[in-house]
Amino acid sequence: MSTELSDAVGDLNIEQTNENGKCENEDDDIVDPWNVVSKSQEGIDYDKLIRRFGSSKIDQEFIARFEKVTGKKVHHFLRRGIFFSHRDVHTILTHYEQNKPFFLYTGRGPSSGSMHLGHLIPFIFAKWLQDIFDVPIVIQLTDDEKFLWKDIKLEEANRLAYENAKDIIACGFDVNKTFIFSNMDFMGQNPEFYRNILRIEKCVTFNQVKGIFGFGDSDVIGKISFPAIQAAPCLSSSFPFIFGKAKVPCLIPCAIDQDPYFRMTRDVAPRLGYSKPALLHSTFFPALQGAQTKMSASDNNTAIFLTDTPKQIKNKVNKHAFSGGQATVEEHREKGGNCDVDISYQYLTFFLEDDERLEQIKKDYTSGALLTGELKKILIETLQPIVKTHQENRAKITDEIVREYMTLRKLNFQC
Ligand code: TYM
Repeated sequence: MSTELSDAVGDLNIEQTNENGKCENEDDDIVDPWNVVSKSQEGIDYDKLIRRFGSSKIDQEFIARFEKVTGKKVHHFLRRGIFFSHRDVHTILTHYEQNKPFFLYTGRGPSSGSMHLGHLIPFIFAKWLQDIFDVPIVIQLTDDEKFLWKDIKLEEANRLAYENAKDIIACGFDVNKTFIFSNMDFMGQNPEFYRNILRIEKCVTFNQVKGIFGFGDSDVIGKISFPAIQAAPCLSSSFPFIFGKAKVPCLIPCAIDQDPYFRMTRDVAPRLGYSKPALLHSTFFPALQGAQTKMSASDNNTAIFLTDTPKQIKNKVNKHAFSGGQATVEEHREKGGNCDVDISYQYLTFFLEDDERLEQIKKDYTSGALLTGELKKILIETLQPIVKTHQENRAKITDEIVREYMTLRKLNFQC
């Protein structure tokens, strides 16, 4: 570790191997809360990322234990390696076996009125976790973060938080077990939240956040203290109306870009008398143009939005989805396509639940029996009803329903 970095990490004993998860050389993939870039067409090398971040791989043994403890078949996101890495989930499973409580925590930075398909991944999975474990979930909307990072007015960021809450609620979370909050509003409603933020802020130096997040001298000071705000919901005492004074362990489903926040939190939590938050990390739902980057809301043509019409979905897939097929039909029939780089196939691994059908599609595309146009058609016909159902569910979410989820209240939960 360089002197500069070891100073930066300081006495914060960040628990991964290589220099705070930073790239070792210029060929390494870049993965942090703001950038996801790989030089490979196949996308991020997730095994390498596990080594760099020092997390644990989700393997067959993990899945077998998960199924044994819950008595349920795991979600296809786990079966297919979409959730591929974790921290301390075995401890949560042991806790669950002993009938001890835990809670889920996840979040969204509301930078656009419409979320995209990639944003749905952690929420679909979190809802599944809520159902199988029957536990409460807290969902943080970081309107403050988006105000600080983006060229966006404060009032607009706050408005987008409430818009995005509708998309999140449309995923089907149980109102009796779900609390959603906007940081801007929650801070003034609940002193315990700000007190925990202060406690965390006192444990982490500027050098340490520079080491973890790469902040520089010209970053505004709001950014520098923000990680404490994303960390604070991991402490159950931030929600006294739900947990009272009990210290309840926390499990966070998210894509791996958010891990730096929780590496920091995992160091601080024990110093404040809490257990380290556990994590389940997902891979990235890739951009239409290819797996070198994640799907992002900032470019309309890289993303399929939850507001897109069936026609827009069809056009985007046909026009922009990167193909692993060959240049001509003859060549494709002869050599076959490459599912490892084909975006339509990649998207199907997320959204086509039928394992046998997916396997057959892979076989047929790889052998050349299935053409790129045919594969794209299968994807379009898979995505259109999913997005349509989401839109129908979202249309039923009134402001009153949003208020219900976002009201500070007791949840249906015993500590
Ligand atoms: P945000 O709004 O960037 O993303 C929301 C959630 O979606 C995940 N995500 C993706 N997952 C798969 N494929 C993609 N292409 C993709 N893009 C984004 C993110 O990892 C995240 O889980 N700072 C956070 C908000 C936040 C949060 C949290 C997230 C606050 N507290 C706790 C997770 C856990 C943010 O801006 O997320």
